[in-house]
Amino acid sequence: MPMEDTPLVASLATKPEDGLGISAVVSGEDDAPIRCIGLRLWLGRNEVLRGLDLTVHRGEILSIMGRTGSGKSSLLRCMTGLVRPTGGQALLFGQDVSSVNEDQLNRLRRRAGMVFQSAALFDSLTVFENVAFFPRRFRKLDVGALSALVAEKLALVGMEGTERLMPAELSGGMAKRVGIARALASEPEVILYDEPEAGLDPIMRGTVDSVIRGLRDSLGMTSVIVSHHVDHALSISDRAALLHDGVIHVVGRPDEFHASEDPLLRQFITGSAEGPLTDAPAPGAGEEV
Ligand SMILES: Nc1ncnc2c1ncn2[C@@H]1O[C@H](COP(=O)(O)OP(=O)(O)OP(=O)(O)O)[C@@H](O)[C@H]1O
Ligand SMILES: [Mg+2]
Repeated sequence: MPMEDTPLVASLATKPEDGLGISAVVSGEDDAPIRCIGLRLWLGRNEVLRGLDLTVHRGEILSIMGRTGSGKSSLLRCMTGLVRPTGGQALLFGQDVSSVNEDQLNRLRRRAGMVFQSAALFDSLTVFENVAFFPRRFRKLDVGALSALVAEKLALVGMEGTERLMPAELSGGMAKRVGIARALASEPEVILYDEPEAGLDPIMRGTVDSVIRGLRDSLGMTSVIVSHHVDHALSISDRAALLHDGVIHVVGRPDEFHASEDPLLRQFITGSAEGPLTDAPAPGAGEEV
């Protein structure tokens, strides 16, 4: 068992070969697309990540859950080099994102798509231009091939025929789906989704879930999904991790999460107002930033 994945709750196994039941999960430490080792991050006066260890294995869907303000989005930003950690290492495809130069970092980032919590579309560009943005810059596609690529990715997320719309004309859920299509259009090896289900109705959520699963099953794509929604996260993932107090408190398979008697995890799963999660103040509460 990799040391950095050693869960605090001993009953939660973490080895990919420990019965995840999908053939795509084959990686060991060496070809793990993402690995965090002793990751630390200060933001303002708040130490958000406090020596966090986590390995994302090739071909798996890994959910990261945690209370609001616990540092999930910050962790994704560290993983992709958008934020520089104050300590430890974030390895993207085996390279420390803090020690590579800008060109190398950009090359690594092209292999790891990101779906931002707020969709983060380019407001002055149409849906087409948003989705075509990265393939146009980094792939030699003629106009027809580019249009076909954009149409295909939009159709995957139920947004076909919206190429000419501007971001201001989209609902939150529509913008989110265009953000997913934009990440898919680069055909990356890994996609990191920050709350992909936010703003989506159950039917659209199901559509997005089947896209994520389909990419794993057909291409062996690795997905990291940040979510507040325990049921959703556990239903879609091969493994899940609970971020608490700046570290990964537990990581394991969904069935192990459900079976665990760890009080903190149980409170998170049941959503109870009382327990160890609420004995401490909410993360970041009352702190100046
Ligand atoms: N740029 C920043 N400067 C200072 N503090 C920040 C900054 N960004 C985030 N924080 C703080 O870091 C903590 C973690 O924020 P983060 O957005 O990573 O949490 P989160 O788990 O994604 O929350 P949510 O579930 O609400 O999206 C919070 O306390 C937040 O106030
Ligand atoms: Mg967040």
